[in-house]
Amino acid sequence: MARVVVTQDTAHVAVVTITRPEALNALDLATLTELRDAFAGLCVEGPDAVRAVVLAGAGEKAFVAGADIKAMQALGAHDAARFAAFGQSVFDAIEAFPAPVIAAVQGFALGGGCELAMACDIVLAGPRAMFGQPEVKLGVIPGFGGTQRLVRRVGSMRARELMYTGRTVKSEEAVRIGLAIEATGDGTVLDAALAMARAIAAQGPVAVRLCKRAVLDSDPSQATGLAYERNLFGLCFATADQKEGMAAFVEKRPAAFTGA
Ligand code: CAA
Repeated sequence: MARVVVTQDTAHVAVVTITRPEALNALDLATLTELRDAFAGLCVEGPDAVRAVVLAGAGEKAFVAGADIKAMQALGAHDAARFAAFGQSVFDAIEAFPAPVIAAVQGFALGGGCELAMACDIVLAGPRAMFGQPEVKLGVIPGFGGTQRLVRRVGSMRARELMYTGRTVKSEEAVRIGLAIEATGDGTVLDAALAMARAIAAQGPVAVRLCKRAVLDSDPSQATGLAYERNLFGLCFATADQKEGMAAFVEKRPAAFTGA
């Protein structure tokens, strides 16, 4: 069964939905690959065909609950760095997608899910949206761009607090600190995202694309930070703490870290 589904809303607005609800839409290699292919497929008809995209997670419980912990658990340092590099490349492609991408976040956007939302141009949060970078609870660091994009979205000190504690943030706080632009009412986040996407699609498409390009091209240092992040993410997988942290998640028990 497809893990990523692409539908057309109006002539120029597409909806990409991650559909792996049994794992709270967690991102394993297959899901990341389908996500990459979905966005690549939207470019096939030329830059003007799709003028705005809405990205959502299937079900009400999660946008995306992170990279797939069970799939990462046994990885060594080299393979973990490669997995992070692949995830980063998919998110980079979404960030650089020619038209604006709007994340409609219902439920959990944790770890790779928060990182995915931050790779989008604009984030809307439903009433039960929960954002966070809880990787330290697993003995690792964010690996899909969180150390770079969170700082840019919420500022360095707030980003450090969120990454060091792994604390989750509800929708109102997410808006207050700049992780989301708006908190919507019950069951309306997708509608609000679609309304915004249609409004964007009605503007001069070349001008919108160039606005996006100008914003992205103003920050060339992000690529250096991402390279550093994926190597440090890999390094975590050479520690006993990563093995303990991820085993504890799978076994549904608290982790007992030793700092080794
Ligand atoms: N990877 C793999 N499976 C996951 C998952 C993930 N990130 N998140 C949830 N699941 C699975 C659970 O294991 C569970 O599967 P089983 O039914 O087989 O046990 C199923 O989805 C439902 O989840 P829960 O039973 O845990 O649901 P809950 O409501 O009790 O808790 C939750 C929800 C708080 C989101 C909890 O699932 C959770 O903490 N998930 C992990 C969040 C996380 O740590 N994300 C970061 C991952 S690391 C990362 O993303 C690194 C990076 O930057 C690349």
